Amino acid sequence: MPSTPAPVTLSRRGHIAVMTIDNPPVNAISPAVVAGLSTALDAFESDRTLGALLVHCEGRTFVAGGDIGSFDQPGFSALPFNRVLARLEGLDRPVVGALHGTVLGGGLELALACHWRTASPGTRLGMPEVKLGLLPGSLGTQRLPRLAGIELALDLISSGRMIGADAAQAAGIVDEVRDAQSPLQLGLDYAKEIVARNAGPRRISETQVARDALPADFFAKALADAVRKKPSYPSARAIVEAVQASALPFAEGEAIEARLFEALIRSPQSKALRHLFFAEREAARIPGLSKGVQLRAIRKVGIVGAGTMGGGIAMNFANAGIPTVLVESTQAALDRGLGIVQANYEATAAKGRLTAEQVRERMALLSGSLDYARLSDCDLVIEAVFENMDLKKEVCMRLGAVCKRGAIIATNTSTLDVNALAAATGRDQDVVGMHFFSPANVMRLLEVVRGAHTAPDVLATVMQLARRIGKVAVVSGVCYGFIGNRMAEVYMREAEFLMMEGASPSQIDGAVEALGMAMGPCRMLDMAGIDVGAKTVIEYGKAGGLPPDDSYRAVVRRLFELGRFGQKTGSGYYRYEGRRPVDDPETAKIARAMADAHGIAQRGEIARQEIVERLLYPLINEGFRILEEGMAYRPGDIDIVWTAGYGFPDHQGGPMFMADAIGLPKIVERMAHYAATRGNAFGYWAVSPLLASRAARDRRVSDLGETGR
Ligand code: 3HC
Ligand code: NAI
Repeated sequence: MPSTPAPVTLSRRGHIAVMTIDNPPVNAISPAVVAGLSTALDAFESDRTLGALLVHCEGRTFVAGGDIGSFDQPGFSALPFNRVLARLEGLDRPVVGALHGTVLGGGLELALACHWRTASPGTRLGMPEVKLGLLPGSLGTQRLPRLAGIELALDLISSGRMIGADAAQAAGIVDEVRDAQSPLQLGLDYAKEIVARNAGPRRISETQVARDALPADFFAKALADAVRKKPSYPSARAIVEAVQASALPFAEGEAIEARLFEALIRSPQSKALRHLFFAEREAARIPGLSKGVQLRAIRKVGIVGAGTMGGGIAMNFANAGIPTVLVESTQAALDRGLGIVQANYEATAAKGRLTAEQVRERMALLSGSLDYARLSDCDLVIEAVFENMDLKKEVCMRLGAVCKRGAIIATNTSTLDVNALAAATGRDQDVVGMHFFSPANVMRLLEVVRGAHTAPDVLATVMQLARRIGKVAVVSGVCYGFIGNRMAEVYMREAEFLMMEGASPSQIDGAVEALGMAMGPCRMLDMAGIDVGAKTVIEYGKAGGLPPDDSYRAVVRRLFELGRFGQKTGSGYYRYEGRRPVDDPETAKIARAMADAHGIAQRGEIARQEIVERLLYPLINEGFRILEEGMAYRPGDIDIVWTAGYGFPDHQGGPMFMADAIGLPKIVERMAHYAATRGNAFGYWAVSPLLASRAARDRRVSDLGETGR
C-alpha cells in the first residue's frame, strides 16, 4: 500500500532549516500536521548548526486555517497546536514565516508565532473563525492585538474580513512584502537577511498591547454592540471578551481564549455553521459527473427580457467582466430595464462601493437590442420573460433557431416545466434551468435545474459559471417550484391557515423571526408581491396541482382580488406605514371572512410553539419528499437553498440540519398530532416515507442508547 506523504518535512538549505507544510488543498492544520510540526521542531532543536528556521507551504496557499473537518472528532482541542506554536515562538534562533495565498485563521496564528513575516504581493490575511461561530483559538486573539492594536484586531476578528499584503504591512502584521520566484525563495531570501542582520528572536507574546487612545468604555460598547447586532451568535460576545483579555499577562489571556474557544466549538451555532461550510462545497459536486468533463467556454451572454429579473441577472455578468446583451420586445421596456441597471450601479457608487469608472466599465459591457439575431454569437442565453408557458415556449423555439451550435439555453422560470421548455428549443441537451432569486444581483442562491436531457457538460459549465459570478449553486430536479419554492408553498399554506384561525401576520412572522429567520412568511410574500404569489397559486390550480380544498391559500387570492399587492401598493397581509409593516384590522376581517366561508374555526391566541411547528414541520417534511424523489441530491443542498435564498438562519444550519437537532421522531409525532387536531383530509400532515423511516431509525438508536445505559 502506498504510504501517505508526510504533511510536514524539515530540510536544510545551508544554515537555514526549511519547514515545509504540504497538506493539500489548503494546508489546513490537521492532527497529522500538528504531529509533523512537532517532530520537525524536535529535529531543529537538536541541530545547533542551523542558524534560522523558515516556515513555508507548498501549493496554492500558506495554511488557510485549522482543519474544520477535524473539529468534530471526539476530544478535539486546539491545545496541541497551541503548544507547538509556543515552542516555535520560544526558539532561540530566528523563525521566519513566508506567506502566500490566503493566510487565514490558524494559518495567521502560525504566522504570528514566527518571529518575522514576509509575504508575496497577492497574499490575503484574515481571521474568519467568526464565520464558523468560533474565535481564533490558537492565540490569535492575544497575539494580533499586540501586533496590530486592539481596534484593528477586534475589527478583523469580529468581521472575519481579509486584508491584502500591503494593508497588513501598514498595520505591522507582516514585516515586508516582496516578489519572489516562489514562497520558498521568498522565505530563504528574507531568512538570509535576518541571519545576516544578526536579528534574534522577536516574540509577540513578550510584548504588551498598546492601550492608549482607546476610550474607557471601548469594550463595554463593543460588547453591547455584539449583543444587540448578533444576539444569536455567542462568538460575537466571546471575541470581545477574548480581545479585551489581551491586555492581561499573556498566560492569563491565553487561558481565557482557551476557555471561550472550547465552549464555542461545542456550541450548536458553530456546528451548524461548519455544516454549511462543507454543504456549500459539497453542493458543487454532481454525482455521476466525471471530473474530466470538458466545460463549454462562456465569453458572451444573452438575456431575453430586461424586467426585474433580466436586469439583475445581467448585472451579475457585467460585474464579472462578461459582455452581455439584453433583448426586449419593445424599446420602452429595454430603456426602462437598462435605466434601472444604471440607477442601481449609481446607487452603489453613491455609497462608495463602486467608482464612477467601474460604473462606466460595467455599463459598457451591457448592450440592448430588439433583435433576436444579436443572440447568435452568445455562448449562453437566459430567458427571463413573463411567467407564461405559451410565451416562454415561443421564446425557446426562437432561441433554438437563433443560438449558435453548442450555446447553452437557460430559463429563469420559477414554476414552469423545464423539460417542456427544453423540448420547445429542439435541442434539449443544451437546456438547463437557471433560477435566480430576487434581487438577482444580490441574492447568492442559484438553483440549477437539471432537465431530463440536460447534457453533463452543460450542467458542469453552469455550476462553474455560478462560482465565477459569485453565486452558490444547488442542483434541483424538475418539479413544481424546484427545491425552494416547493418547500415555501407548504410554509405559506400553513401561514394562511393560522391566519384564518386567528393569528395575526405579526404573530406568525414573529414566531419564526425569533428563531433568526430574516423575514417571516407574510413579510416575505408582501415584499415579493401578493399578485405574484396569487397568480402562481391560480396557475398551479389550473394545471391541476392544487388539492381539492377551497380554503387552500384563500387569503392570498382574496387579497389579490382586492388589489392589495403587498408592500408596493401599501397593503397586503400587512398595512405599510412607509416601509414599516403593521397589523391591519382589515386583514383580520378578511381572514375571518375566509374562515367563515370555509368552515374553519377561529380560536383565541395561538401559542408561538404551535406556529413554529406548523410552519416548519411541513416544510421539513416536504424537504424529505424532495430527497425521496431524488429532486435534491442531499439534505445539505436543501440547507444551502434555504440559508442562501430564503433568509433561513445560518446558525440553525438550514431546515434539514435543524430537523436533526429537533429530533426526527419528535417531528413525526407532532405531524401526527396536527393530523389528529387539524384533520388530514388533503394529506397536509401525511409524513414522507423517508422521514418516517429515518425517524424510526433514530428512535431505535436512541432506545438502544437508553437500554445500554
Ligand atoms: N479546513 C478543512 N478544509 C478546508 C479548509 C479548512 N480550514 N479550508 C478549505 N478547505 C477545503 C474545502 O472544503 C475544499 O475542499 P473540497 O475541494 O474537497 O471541496 C477545498 O479546501 C478548497 O476550498 P474552496 O472550494 O473554498 O476553495 P477557494 O479557493 O474558493 O477558497 C479558502 C479557499 C479562501 C481558503 C476558503 O476555502 C476558506 O475560506 N476556507 C476556510 C478558512 C477558514 O475558515 N479558516 C479558519 C478555520 S478555523 C481555525 O483556523 C481555528 C483556529 O483558530 C484554531
Ligand atoms: P418582469 O415582468 O419584470 O419582466 C419580464 C420582461 O420580459 C418584461 O420586461 C417584458 O417586456 C419582457 N418580455 C416579454 N416578452 C418578451 C419577448 N417575447 N421577448 C423579449 N422580452 C420579452 O418579470 P420578472 O419578475 O423579471 O420575471 C421574469 C421571469 O423570472 C419569470 O419567469 C419569473 O417567474 C422569473 N422569476 C421571477 C422572480 C421575481 O421575484 N420576480 C424570482 C425568480 C424567477
